[in-house]
Amino acid sequence: MLFPDARGRRLRANANFRRMIRETKISVDDLIMPLFAIDGTSVKKPIASMPGQFHLSCDNIVKTAQEAKDAGVPAIILFGVADKKDPLATRAYASDAIVQRAVAAVKEKVPDITVITDVCLCAYTDHGHCGVVDKGIIDNDASLDLIAKTALSHVQAGADMVAPSDMMDGRVGEIRQTLDEENFSHIPIMSYAVKYSSAFYGPFREAADSAPQFGDRKTYQMDPANSLEAIREATMDIEEGADIIMVKPALSYLDIIYRLKEEIDLPIAAYNVSGEYSIMKAGEMMGWVDAKAMIMETLLSIKRAGADIILTYSAIDVARELNR
Ligand code: PBG
Repeated sequence: MLFPDARGRRLRANANFRRMIRETKISVDDLIMPLFAIDGTSVKKPIASMPGQFHLSCDNIVKTAQEAKDAGVPAIILFGVADKKDPLATRAYASDAIVQRAVAAVKEKVPDITVITDVCLCAYTDHGHCGVVDKGIIDNDASLDLIAKTALSHVQAGADMVAPSDMMDGRVGEIRQTLDEENFSHIPIMSYAVKYSSAFYGPFREAADSAPQFGDRKTYQMDPANSLEAIREATMDIEEGADIIMVKPALSYLDIIYRLKEEIDLPIAAYNVSGEYSIMKAGEMMGWVDAKAMIMETLLSIKRAGADIILTYSAIDVARELNR
């Protein structure tokens, strides 16, 4: 059918028509809220590079988790700010370290919210890399044991799901085996399977104090130019036991989200990362853009591309908006 019989504008003419034929909807069910845990009590310190985000001591992590739950957000993902760093990332897997304590506190006070943990070493190593360093090289196989130990310690503290973000080869299998041996075969793994080496992580590295002290992450995170490689990475992680496959960042990689959704049959998560968040907040502070509307539009684009789950620093704000 062609114009004048066909008129695209007929069904755009009013809000009810638009509502009725809308193809994609964001739901609070889709959202995961990242939170940064730090030592101390009553700490709520603004993160300069991420306006509206805070370093929170465990009491305030619990408070924010409660707010997330009250807004209908199903899950939080916890990151830790280390009290002490060393070459072997000891504070990543110590039972009394920050993430472990934050997990336990939330599970005690807000048991109904799902607690996911980011599993990585970069915030806890003195060199800031995601694995063990040997003569300037990030040693893949030597890192696996420590990464699996970190995941296990999170689960022992009460985490409902673990999310390895280190990009070492074989870590999903190693974590799966370790959890299974310790009677945690019921705990799912959300793998940062398709994680690109991205400039969009900049603000986060200030938040987590996790910037590499030499070199960069290009020997383990993916080359932004590659798309077939995303399929290989996702396929390997699925074979090793991943339950959810994540693409990260989201906005420059919508084609990757779309492609994975077509080619694999696991739920797809997308991480709307710190840089994507902060540029919109900065534009808002300059008075140049309507960040609230931009955030809704970008989350919609991530969902439309095929993501089932979205990790976003706007999760609580967006959930409140959706509830209005
Ligand atoms: C840890 C990790 C990073 C992010 C999540 N987990 C940083 C990195 O890989 O450098 C980035 C999150 C964000 O930018 O919002 N490896």
